Amino acid sequence: MYFKEKHGFPKDFLWGSASAAYQVEGAAEEDGKGRSNWDEFVRIPGKTFKATTGDVAVDHYHRFKEDIALMAEMGLKTYRFSISWPRIYPKGTGEVNEKGLQFYDAVIDECLKYGIEPMVTIYHWDLPQALQEEYNGWESRRIVDDYENYAITLFERYKDKVKYWITLNEQNVFTMHGWMMATHPPGKKNDSKMFYQVNHHANLAHAKAVLAFRKIVPNGKIGASFAFGPSYAIDCNPINNIAKADYDDLQNFWWMDVYAYGRYPKAAFKYLQGQGVAPVFEDGDAELMKAAAQVDFMGVNYYQTAVVEYNSIDGVGMAEMNTTGKKGTSQVSGTPGLFKNPPNPYLKTTDWDWTIDPMGIRMCCRTITSRYDLPIVISENGLGAFDKKTEDNKIHDDYRIAYLKAHVEELKEAVNEGCEVLAYCTWSITDLLSWLNGYQKRYGFIYVDREEEEGSSMNRYKKDSYYWYQNVIKTNGEEL
Ligand code: BG6
Repeated sequence: MYFKEKHGFPKDFLWGSASAAYQVEGAAEEDGKGRSNWDEFVRIPGKTFKATTGDVAVDHYHRFKEDIALMAEMGLKTYRFSISWPRIYPKGTGEVNEKGLQFYDAVIDECLKYGIEPMVTIYHWDLPQALQEEYNGWESRRIVDDYENYAITLFERYKDKVKYWITLNEQNVFTMHGWMMATHPPGKKNDSKMFYQVNHHANLAHAKAVLAFRKIVPNGKIGASFAFGPSYAIDCNPINNIAKADYDDLQNFWWMDVYAYGRYPKAAFKYLQGQGVAPVFEDGDAELMKAAAQVDFMGVNYYQTAVVEYNSIDGVGMAEMNTTGKKGTSQVSGTPGLFKNPPNPYLKTTDWDWTIDPMGIRMCCRTITSRYDLPIVISENGLGAFDKKTEDNKIHDDYRIAYLKAHVEELKEAVNEGCEVLAYCTWSITDLLSWLNGYQKRYGFIYVDREEEEGSSMNRYKKDSYYWYQNVIKTNGEEL
């Protein structure tokens, strides 16, 4: 849109960066922490790149003070991190582990000491293994009450210190990988029926947490972080545009409509009923979902957009992902009878074949603003790349600066177009474990000296992008 005058980011804009417990903490067996589903899954041969684990990760558990001091020096306004459920409830429920809570007390107090707003993700994929073993975790409705109980424990403990809360990180991703692609725990393939049922349970868990939150933290703000991939029809052939409508309903609105409106998109629900895979509702589910709508903000993890083309009934299915960083090794993926996602000839990709599309972040904001009229928290955005540390301990990641600059420029346009954006968190603050791609796929502003094998120094080094973002924050996004 053309404007005679443009305004920048609001004065209290939250410039941030993010992490997740399993990817940074390590200390897998310390201070009473229980085992998580990921502690088990990474031990299955062939599941992760070079069999990497989060046992030690980047040792944030022992180095959080050093890491938060670096965030403060950078000028960070908010730090988004997740709490490890099995650290708080080693068995998922029952007796609380006070030492686990004390760790997060210390992390939160350290942030507040520097005036950094803590933004807490309640669930970023590390489920207590005990719940997996007892009732198959998310496959059972029993998880709804256990998740609510865990969330309430956190709300009670941190209600006076933490304002921003995220119930679930990328519900669409952990369920898609867990029940359709077999690449996340519990490692099931093409189990569509369970995929939708598991998502329904997650929606109920989210809803119960939101309702509890309204009572316990009335002045706080809560939302969910959704991995939003806006889509483009490949051309103006109507069949490809209906495919785009199907894609949006089934891949994006299926989740965001629940967070915002407390119900599923109609056409998608009807389609899934026809396929015999629609989620089973019990008495009270619809009312619960409705009562919890709507969230205070839509959390968006934005990495890439998708091109949509009609896919015939005998067309391609789910493809393998590129987890090696060898460019061009991923295949076109799709759902037979609905859509497939060919590459976008107008855009470049990363070494892991993720499309680079800065304008996509603006598309996310515009869609959310017009469909839901909700404030937006960009809870993740960043570039996974091979970084090299020079002999004099410098990391010249100009490609990351270019990537982030282009995305922030588009975000600024979105703000100018009237989208209410509260925060922008990059992924990630330090280098960390990429679930399936080991430690070689780096995202941080802060380089961590470690490779796939254990035993490196774990020393922290500021990359060029660290200084760049420091200045972006200082100038509130005026100097990019
Ligand atoms: C998001 C997750 O999917 O993207 C993060 O919330 C993850 O936990 C990030 O690390 C980047 O993905 P990947 O696969 O490149 O590590």
